Amino acid sequence: MVDATTFPTDGYIAESAARMTGCTLRPVTPSEVPGALGDRTAAVLLNHVDYRTGRLHDLPSLTAAVHAAGAYAVWDLCHSAGALPVGLDRHGVDLAVGCTYKYLNGGPGSPAFLYVRADLQDRFDSPLPGWNSHAEPFGMRPGYEPAAGAVRGRVGTPDILSMLALEAALEVWDGVAVDTVRAKSLALTDFFLECVEEYVPEGRVACVTPRAHAERGSQIALRCPDAGAVMERLIERGVVGDFRHPDVLRFGFTPLYVGFADVERAARVLAEVLA
Ligand SMILES: Cc1ncc(COP(=O)(O)O)c(C=O)c1O
Repeated sequence: MVDATTFPTDGYIAESAARMTGCTLRPVTPSEVPGALGDRTAAVLLNHVDYRTGRLHDLPSLTAAVHAAGAYAVWDLCHSAGALPVGLDRHGVDLAVGCTYKYLNGGPGSPAFLYVRADLQDRFDSPLPGWNSHAEPFGMRPGYEPAAGAVRGRVGTPDILSMLALEAALEVWDGVAVDTVRAKSLALTDFFLECVEEYVPEGRVACVTPRAHAERGSQIALRCPDAGAVMERLIERGVVGDFRHPDVLRFGFTPLYVGFADVERAARVLAEVLA
């Protein structure tokens, strides 16, 4: 089962995994997952935060529902790692993947990560084995013997330059509690919505991100006619968000370095562009 609203890469991979294992792939929206689960469900791939709308899905309850059906829960954390507490161990998540170039600030093209639940690590059979996931990486053995633990999820030669940049980005987190980051993220996104309501002429944008804190990641998505051209003009003026087809303006708020003055300016410039 795959999140019908998933980011394309995840959907393509789920499709190829299903093809290679002879399973049937079923796209289902996250809210429909509990009702769609059955004893033939093998695994469920969900996005923690929807990349388009910024909606945060309920990881603890969806994971529990997936487990009650005897399936594995696989979460994509691209839009939550570094933005909010996730609690993979606490909620018994089986597998998770994510990128480090968003809220972890690793820079363009920085490495992805893989999480494997502790008691699955020695049973985890990687579909992409490489020299760097071998128990003896420099042994150059013809036969594959997986390394112990999650390291078996590695593949081949790592991107060393990207790893170094990521290491520096992660050092910034030393002594930072993710709960504090989450509190600032919610304050930033609340403030952005307030400023948009105050500045942007009525009816020009419609917020598609849920207002409830429990259902919001660290982005605000605004539906807006001609969103592609609007975002181009925003970027020209130093307000760097992005555009998602067909009509969504997406603003990501990285609490470690985005401040309230940036947020106010972004909403003001948006109002000017739309005036
Ligand atoms: C939810 C989600 N998953 C995955 C990715 C990217 O995955 P990849 O770089 O492996 O294509 C993104 C990138 O924006 C994303 O938003």
